[in-house]
Amino acid sequence: MTAKIIDGKLIAADLRARVADEVARVKRDHGLTPGLAVVLVGNDPASEVYVRNKHKQTQAAGMASFEHVLPADVAQADLLALVAKLNADPAVHGILVQLPLPKGLDTETIIASIDPAKDVDGLHPHNAGRLAGGLPALSPCTPLGCIILTKSVHSSLEGMDAIVIGRSNLVGRPLVQLLLNENATVTIAHSRSRNLPELCRRADLVYAAVGKAEMVRGDWLKPGATVIDVGITRLPAADGKTRLVGDVAFDEAMKVAGAVTPVPGGVGQMTVACLLVNTLRAACAIEGLPAPGM
Ligand code: GUN
Repeated sequence: MTAKIIDGKLIAADLRARVADEVARVKRDHGLTPGLAVVLVGNDPASEVYVRNKHKQTQAAGMASFEHVLPADVAQADLLALVAKLNADPAVHGILVQLPLPKGLDTETIIASIDPAKDVDGLHPHNAGRLAGGLPALSPCTPLGCIILTKSVHSSLEGMDAIVIGRSNLVGRPLVQLLLNENATVTIAHSRSRNLPELCRRADLVYAAVGKAEMVRGDWLKPGATVIDVGITRLPAADGKTRLVGDVAFDEAMKVAGAVTPVPGGVGQMTVACLLVNTLRAACAIEGLPAPGM
């Protein structure tokens, strides 16, 4: 048996095209140009790539993109002042502070200083709390992408057994809440969980978000399971170059699972597409327009 490969690239391109259509509509009908501000502190090479990508795709969707690059040794007060300025700027509907922040900056305080209505990362305690309470909220982009990818295989997740491996604020915890909203039965596993392979084998839906290369093996999977791989690790390859791998041993999973996301070309593609969706949603909510139909 060979699993279906879930094409994140295609699904993300389709979502971006739908966002671009909606952006064109709100521009035409309401004179609204949604705007996203991204703040990058320091020069972490991976973050630089992500931020460049966000900038390009925001512009391609017809939105305004504002990039702010600050030195790694910026004072916390200066970063807070920038966020306050963006909170007050009517052209900015979404604010994202790229993580991780350099040492010396207090991530929690900075996230909490973002206007919750502009918190397109869904990380502000206001939004995280609303999501946990089952209320409408801006939700983190990677978990939203995971749900969309799952729904490309299963139109309803109701009653399905899901396992989320990893409990980060950015992915695992919000993903659990989104799965509960879909009426799935959710197990939350993490580095202290016992019998992880056994827990995993019970699941119809497996979400691996631990950041450990190829940790989830083929014999951890229930035959036919849907596997969503959030991990991305760069490993040395035999030819002296490097290769990107996920948290799931892909070749093994392909022999057992029903559907698997590849790395790259799976979840990663969805994160920015969902950021565009959140920015459009935030812009409509701030401007008092009906929520976009997506
Ligand atoms: N770093 C890696 N992923 C993300 C994300 O989704 N949001 C932010 N702010 N930083 C990240």
